[in-house]
Amino acid sequence: MSSGLEIPDDEKGYDLDLFCIPKHYENDLERVFIPHGLIMDRTERLARDIMHDMGEHHIVALCVLKGGYKFFADLLDYIKALNRNSDKSVPLTVDFIRLKSYSNDESTNSVKVIGGDELSALSGKNVLIVEDIVETGKTMQTLLSILNGYNPKMVKVVSLLVKRTPRSSGYRPDYTGFEIPDKFVVGYALDYNEYFRDLSHICVMNEHGKQKYKI
Ligand code: PRP
Repeated sequence: MSSGLEIPDDEKGYDLDLFCIPKHYENDLERVFIPHGLIMDRTERLARDIMHDMGEHHIVALCVLKGGYKFFADLLDYIKALNRNSDKSVPLTVDFIRLKSYSNDESTNSVKVIGGDELSALSGKNVLIVEDIVETGKTMQTLLSILNGYNPKMVKVVSLLVKRTPRSSGYRPDYTGFEIPDKFVVGYALDYNEYFRDLSHICVMNEHGKQKYKI
């Protein structure tokens, strides 16, 4: 279990003008925090690490919607590339679950399961849960306890981001892309009240953006 690429608390990120930002979000963001290219390069390596550990048997990749969908798609593309270009390969099937715990930028106390296929299909399988971010860890701990009730053979968790926060329950995923400071980040499918999923880079919002899209 590694902490991933550690981004320090004093990381300033990058000026928005250095990258291509959709016009409709230009005034709502402070800085680019993790450029899309860096996300992709780190994801490629995560795919290799995962296949090293799980690449002996059929993998069921379980996407945690909605925030996980970009990372899920890109990670699976890299795993598929490894499958195409290695002497050994394993079948990869996909499944989706929808959980929700945030309103504005606050974690609520309940984690709601509001979708998903029949989880009994995961019984006896090697399951890779793919998540965009672990903050308090409550969402993942809830999902793991739900899944364990269906007796999978193995469950591993990969999260693109893990936030260093005093609100953390101490839960750590098996694989982490980046460990980030306690800032509210959006983009690459991470949202603020459903906005900013359509932004390629992971960015820090400004106050204007928070007010504009507040509910
Ligand atoms: C976010 C994120 C994780 C969860 C992490 O989901 O996608 O699932 O919060 O938080 P935690 O570690 O504090 O539990 P959100 O509720 O915003 O739903 P979304 O993925 O549909 O945006």
